Amino acid sequence: MEFFLDTASLDEIRKCKAYGLIDGVTTNPTLLRKEGQDWRRQMQAICKEVDGPVSLEVVGTTAKEMLAEARELIKFGPNVVIKIPMLLEGLIAVRELHAMDIPTNVTLVFSPMQALLAAKAGATYVSPFIGRLDALGQEGMECIRQIVTIYDNYDIATKVLVASIRHPMHVVESALTGADVATLPFAVIEQLARHPLTDKGLQTFLDDWKALAGDGAGQG
Ligand code: E4P
Repeated sequence: MEFFLDTASLDEIRKCKAYGLIDGVTTNPTLLRKEGQDWRRQMQAICKEVDGPVSLEVVGTTAKEMLAEARELIKFGPNVVIKIPMLLEGLIAVRELHAMDIPTNVTLVFSPMQALLAAKAGATYVSPFIGRLDALGQEGMECIRQIVTIYDNYDIATKVLVASIRHPMHVVESALTGADVATLPFAVIEQLARHPLTDKGLQTFLDDWKALAGDGAGQG
């Protein structure tokens, strides 16, 4: 499973790059707003920093507006993926971008049928938001399972990109479904690496090593 970082922060991107844990990045207007800088420059800098696909979202709500924005966004780098909201107008834009070989990520997906429509339009990625479904008392992961099964049933090439991830169990369960990609907030990536028994075990080893040195049996 590929890991994308769900962020518009260059600092977070650089840290994850150093860990070797980043296959791509997803951004959205809310994440860009948090950075509070010139969004154009920020998008360009992200595309330059990342060796992998970077989803940049359009904000128009008609196909015409989305396509005009997409034409500008693809100038930011060869790795740009156009993020399009799951609207009927969005499907028109996805179909046209697909015909031009421009990759797309259909976002704000909350049901298996929306995912099927996105795939039929030729989406490269589909992004079901599981954390937001869980928050409504629906099972976000069940939506992922159903999408993966439907795509498998019909050999659909669109990649399932699990979004709106809140905690490590979302990542474990996503991997068990066979989803292609999980886009993770930086805090969740850090949580994946941590385990209290790792910390406890390391502390014991370090304490024992110190005691051993104190006993006069240190290295050298
Ligand atoms: C995905 O591409 C979105 O940016 C993201 O996962 C949104 O999730 P949220 O519910 O944390 O805003």
